[in-house]
Amino acid sequence: MIPSDFHRGRRLRSSLTLREMVRENEVRPQDLIMPYFVAETDDESFIKEISSMPGQYQLSLKQLEKKVGEAVTNGLRSCILFGIPAQKDETGSQAYADSGIVQQAIRLLKDRWPDLMVVADTCLCEYTSHGHCGLVKNNEVLNDPTLNLLARTAVAQARAGADMVAPSDMMDGRVAAIRAALDDAGFLNTPIMAYAVKYASAFYGPFREAAESAPQFGDRKTYQMDPPNGREAMREAAADLMEGADILMVKPGLPYLDIIRQVRDAFDAPVAAYQVSGEYSMIKAAAANGWIDERAVVMESLVAFKRAGADLILTYFTEDVLKTLK
Ligand code: PBG
Repeated sequence: MIPSDFHRGRRLRSSLTLREMVRENEVRPQDLIMPYFVAETDDESFIKEISSMPGQYQLSLKQLEKKVGEAVTNGLRSCILFGIPAQKDETGSQAYADSGIVQQAIRLLKDRWPDLMVVADTCLCEYTSHGHCGLVKNNEVLNDPTLNLLARTAVAQARAGADMVAPSDMMDGRVAAIRAALDDAGFLNTPIMAYAVKYASAFYGPFREAAESAPQFGDRKTYQMDPPNGREAMREAAADLMEGADILMVKPGLPYLDIIRQVRDAFDAPVAAYQVSGEYSMIKAAAANGWIDERAVVMESLVAFKRAGADLILTYFTEDVLKTLK
C-alpha cells in the first residue's frame, strides 16, 4: 500500500511547459554587464587574447567598437570598462586624465550607442606602476590621500559620459568622496555601483593578466576583505550605502553566494554580483577538456546568482548568454 499523503514534487516537473510556468528565477538580458579591457595603442588592429581567459581580449578602441557593436546587435545593454594605459606612474595619473584610455572609450561608445549603459570601473591599480589600488609610501597603501585621486577619476569618467561609476579599490570613505566630487561637478544623477563587499580573492588571478594590474609587491589583503568573514560584509555594505552607494556589489560570485543572500536580505538597494575572472577561467578550462557542458554550466551558475538575490550580474559570459537567450 502506497501512502497517499507524501509530497509529489514531481507533479510540477512533468513537462518543460510546466517547469517554465513554476520557475522562480530567470536571467534576463538586462541583468547582464559585460566587462571589456581597452588598451591604449596606436595600432587600430590590436586585439590580443588573454591566455588565461580564452575568448576574452585586450582591445584597441577600434576593436572595442567592433566587439561592442556585435554585442549590441545581440542585445547588450551594459558594459564595464577597464583600461590598460600606455604609461603607468606612481600616482596612476592616466586614471583621471581626460585623455585617459577609458575616458576615450567612454566617449566613443556613448557617441555610437547613446542608450548603452556604460559603467566605468573606478580604480588606480591598472594605472599605477606598483599595481596597487592607492597611493603607496614606504610599501604602505595610503587610504586618505588616495580618496582625492579616486574622486578625480570618477569625475573624469562622468565628464567623458560614463553613465555609472563603480569604485573597486576598497579604500575606506571612497564612496563618500566620490559622491561629493560628482555632485560638486554637477553629476548629481550619476549612480555609484560600489564594489561594497570585495574579498582579497585568489579568483582574480586571470584578471591581473588581462588588466596588467598585479601588485608589484605584497598583496591586497590590507584593503580587500578577508574571505572567512561574513558579518564584516554587512558593515562594509552598510557603510557604502550610508556614504551614497546606489547599487551594492558582492565579489567574487559563486564562492560568496551566502554573502549575496545576506546583503539582499539586509538592504533594499539593488545588488550586483561579479562572476570574476577565475570563475570564468575554471568553467572555460573544464569545458575545453570536455568535462562539463559549458553553456549549461554557465546558465546554471548565473541563475544561482539570481536565486541568491542578485539583481545584476557582471560576467565575461555576457556575450555568449545574450546569444543563448536570443
Ligand atoms: C580592480 C579590479 C579587480 C577586479 C575588478 N576590478 C582586480 C583586483 O582587485 O585585483 C577583478 C575582476 C576579475 O577578477 O574578474 N581593483
